[in-house]
Formats: sequence, C-alpha cells, structure tokens
Amino acid sequence: MRFHDKAVIVTGGSKGIGAGCAKVFCEEGGLAAILARGRETGERYAAELTARGPGRAIFFQCDVSQPEQLTAAIDRAAEEFGRLDCIINNAGWHPPATRIEDTSLEDLDRLIRLNFTSTFLGCRHALPHLRKTKGTIINMSSMVGILGQDQAVAYCSTKAAQIGLTKALAVELGPEGIRVNAILPGNVDTPMMHEWAATLPDPKSALQRVAALQVFGRMATSEEIGRIALFLASDDASFLTGQAIQAEGGASLDY
Ligand SMILES: NC(=O)c1ccc[n+]([C@@H]2O[C@H](COP(=O)([O-])OP(=O)(O)OC[C@H]3O[C@@H](n4cnc5c(N)ncnc54)[C@H](OP(=O)(O)O)[C@@H]3O)[C@@H](O)[C@H]2O)c1
Repeated sequence: MRFHDKAVIVTGGSKGIGAGCAKVFCEEGGLAAILARGRETGERYAAELTARGPGRAIFFQCDVSQPEQLTAAIDRAAEEFGRLDCIINNAGWHPPATRIEDTSLEDLDRLIRLNFTSTFLGCRHALPHLRKTKGTIINMSSMVGILGQDQAVAYCSTKAAQIGLTKALAVELGPEGIRVNAILPGNVDTPMMHEWAATLPDPKSALQRVAALQVFGRMATSEEIGRIALFLASDDASFLTGQAIQAEGGASLDY
C-alpha cells in the first residue's frame, strides 16, 4: 500500500501505459484520476479499477491538447480527492512513419501541442496542488527522445523536449522538495503499438521484430511501466529527481 489514500492524475489513463499506471496506483490504495477523450472507455475502466480496489478511480473527459480542458480537469480531480500527490503526464501519440519533407508545420505544431505543451501545462497547473503535499511529477517520454528513430523527427523532438523540461524543472522545484522525473519506455505492448503495426504490410511480423529488440525477447507490459512510475512517486525514490529512467528491457545494449 505504497500510495494509500494519496491521489494521482494520469493523463491518457484509459488505455495502454497510462492504464497500467492507474491500475498499479489503485492496487496500492491510491486515488486515480483518469484523463482521456473517450468517455465510454474511460468510465468503464475507472469503474473496473474501483470495483477491484483497494483504491478507486474516477474518469474526467479531457483533450490534453486543449489547455482549458486540461487545466479544468486537473482542478476538478484535485478538488474531488481533496489533494494531489502526483501527476503523470502520459497522454501522447506517435504518428505513422513520415519523412521530414512530408511533415508540415501544422502537423508539427499539433504534435508539439499534444505531446509536449500538454506536459508543460500539466506540470505548471498541477504545481499549486503538488506544493501542498510535496508531491511528484512524472513525464512519459520515450527512448527515441535520446536514440532517435527513422522517419519520426516530429515525435522524437517532442519526446526530447519532455526530457529537457523534466531536468530544468527538477532544478527549479528541488528546493521545494518537489521531484520531477521522466520515464523513457522502449517498446511497450499497448493499443498504440498495435495501431502502428497495423499501418505496415505485415503487422504480425512487425510486432515480433519489435519484441525481439529487447534482451528478454518481449515488449514491456503497461503494468511494468506503471510499477516504475509507482517507485518514482513513492518515498523509495526520495533522492531521485531530474532523471530520465530508461525502461527499455536492454534494447539499447550490445550494439
Ligand atoms: N507504447 C510504446 O511502446 C511507447 C514507447 C515509448 C513512449 N510511449 C509514450 O507513452 C505514452 C502512452 O503511449 P501508449 O502506447 O500507452 O498509447 P495508447 O495505447 O494510444 O494510449 C493513449 C492514451 O492516451 C489517451 N489520449 C490520446 N490522445 C489524447 C488527448 N489528446 N487528450 C487526452 N487523452 C489522450 C488515450 O485515450 P483517448 O484516445 O480516449 O483520448 C489513451 O488513454 C505516450 O506519450 C507515448 O509517446 C509509448
């Protein structure tokens, strides 16, 4: 019960990695606010987590790329639980493979708004609530933010920007006892991963190829990333801040 009666906001908490985070925090007695666009999936998942206990979850409909929606949802969640101990800025999207010449400025702006600006605003708007609890911030970046990836300049740029934000903010908030860390997942078995595979001619072999990249011969589960987030949010990580935790199952080893 490492998060008993403490409150977390998980953007994109209705599916994939965010859903794994919400599940792990609820299993530890936490109160999870799930923010996403799809109401039906979000409400169903929040009800499922609450029924399973011992923590509970509530869904708040919100498009994180719309600043007013994100700030309103953060305030409603903090009000509902009466406190906020952690925000996990996780909602994001990986567009299909696109070369730089085919990446329009409009597409770039949209992706920055979804993957990066929402992370910035999530940090900024959660801050008054986190100050009261000496809470923590976790930003869901990606290994490709430091490794690069073919035909993904826009995505990799947004993920690298999240790392810069994490480190700078950790310096700024350290004196107040607020820790800021990023998780850089490698390949995680999520709906987004399957949507990406479906854009390729042979989705099944694409997923097998991706699984084989890790030294374990498999992708991470969303819950495994959730357990890293729980560690970062707990007092066990009390001396960790500004870190970019590479959760990649050894995929970058043995080059
Ligand atoms: N999967 C991987 O291998 C991997 C690797 C490295 C990093 N990541 C990062 O991890 C994060 C989650 O990825 P995932 O694979 O779990 O994705 P996913 O399976 O597509 O799940 C995304 C979640 O975010 C929500 N979401 C998407 N756009 C949103 C928006 N505009 N406003 C609010 N919620 C939104 C989705 O719900 P709705 O659609 O209902 O809004 C869903 O709950 C992303 O930031 C991604 O870059 C993933």
